[in-house]
Amino acid sequence: MTADPETRLKELGLELPDPPHPVGAYAPAVIAGDLLYLSGTTCYKDGRPLFVGRVGAELSLEEGYSAARQTMLNLLAVIRAELGSLNRVEQVVRVTGYVNSAAEFDQQPSVINGASDLLEALFGERGRHARTSIGVSTLPGHIPVEIEMVVKIRPVTRGRAAPRPRKEPLAARGSSTLPGLVAGRGQAPESSSCLAGAVPLAQVRSQGATMSDVIQALGQLGVVPVVKVERADQAEKLAEALQAGGLPCAEITFRTAAAEQAIARIASAYPNMIVGAGTVINVEQAERAAGAGARFIVSPGYDDNVVDWCQAHKIPSMPGVATPTEILMALGKGINLVKFFPAEALGGVPVLEAIAAAFPGVRFVPTGGITAQNLAAYLKLAMVFACGGSWLVAGKFLNAGAFGEITRLTREAVEIVRSERGPGVSR
Ligand code: 3PG
Repeated sequence: MTADPETRLKELGLELPDPPHPVGAYAPAVIAGDLLYLSGTTCYKDGRPLFVGRVGAELSLEEGYSAARQTMLNLLAVIRAELGSLNRVEQVVRVTGYVNSAAEFDQQPSVINGASDLLEALFGERGRHARTSIGVSTLPGHIPVEIEMVVKIRPVTRGRAAPRPRKEPLAARGSSTLPGLVAGRGQAPESSSCLAGAVPLAQVRSQGATMSDVIQALGQLGVVPVVKVERADQAEKLAEALQAGGLPCAEITFRTAAAEQAIARIASAYPNMIVGAGTVINVEQAERAAGAGARFIVSPGYDDNVVDWCQAHKIPSMPGVATPTEILMALGKGINLVKFFPAEALGGVPVLEAIAAAFPGVRFVPTGGITAQNLAAYLKLAMVFACGGSWLVAGKFLNAGAFGEITRLTREAVEIVRSERGPGVSR
């Protein structure tokens, strides 16, 4: 085989998805020496598992094979994100496949061939690998297949083009990319870390996560708790309560003087938590929020200056929209993920459906009046990326120190997301 794997990918008419984002406390991949170790990954496609169930019971061997192939596409997406190009793989070294199997099922190797055949088709000899295929009695979220792998990395050749930068567009449910959100006009190049008086990028993007990582994680979690914090010393307990309930994210609204401090305290105590700022209505607040460690910015409406500032500083911003005109303004900046606010007061699901019909490429985060009672109705809609709301972190619980109640309501919200979308965690 002469063609390199990136060329072969095109020849086979295949496109890699956006790399899955780990929501647990682990990295999608780790480089040790000249080896790249990839975490266990599964058969997510467009934000949902391609199949759910045990091979040999609910699923056929052929479906298991397809699940393994999709899983390998996701692993290849991680490799490309880490190395810049599949062409930097010197050799696929090892593949370990776990098959969620019915008791009597014993054809695990044929299932994992779905992954191995794809590797050989793309990499030829360099794709031949050592392998283990194991049957297990269950896997997280009842997914049929999980695969981990190790590849040997080819060093970057001196004088050749640098590896392609990590792809920035947003992964969205029901659509492979939403190209505008992070690649909007006016966006600063990767190296321009500072404008006059700006916050260093290192502060804006903790842990080296890219903008698309942050947004993807919010989409996968499905619910963004919107919190009005009255006292900064409530921050850590709030973060713990949300994490205990299964939502490692929060939008702290700039409606109180304590917001900036609360963001800073959460970002510092829980660097894995995705903390952002809400109700940001001017650039000064956006600067303070980013300086405190906010990893995304939400506004109740559309403001050119806030959007420009966020794009220049490569921090994801989600303007609020209530009308088609405001959506057009966002699209004009290359933004196609917007907050639909105030969702219920505007007319709820039917109004969102009517507006969204005109904008097939736009994804929405309905916020305002969302509760455990109407959450599912929004999450059912393909154009809904996630929902925002304060019902699970209401001031009455925060101020009374009722963190157990926050955890309970968070768990309830997570369960609703799971029942609408599957396990919701990209592995
Ligand atoms: C917001 O700032 O996004 C809203 O206040 C959240 O709306 P809710 O309080 O009705 O959930």
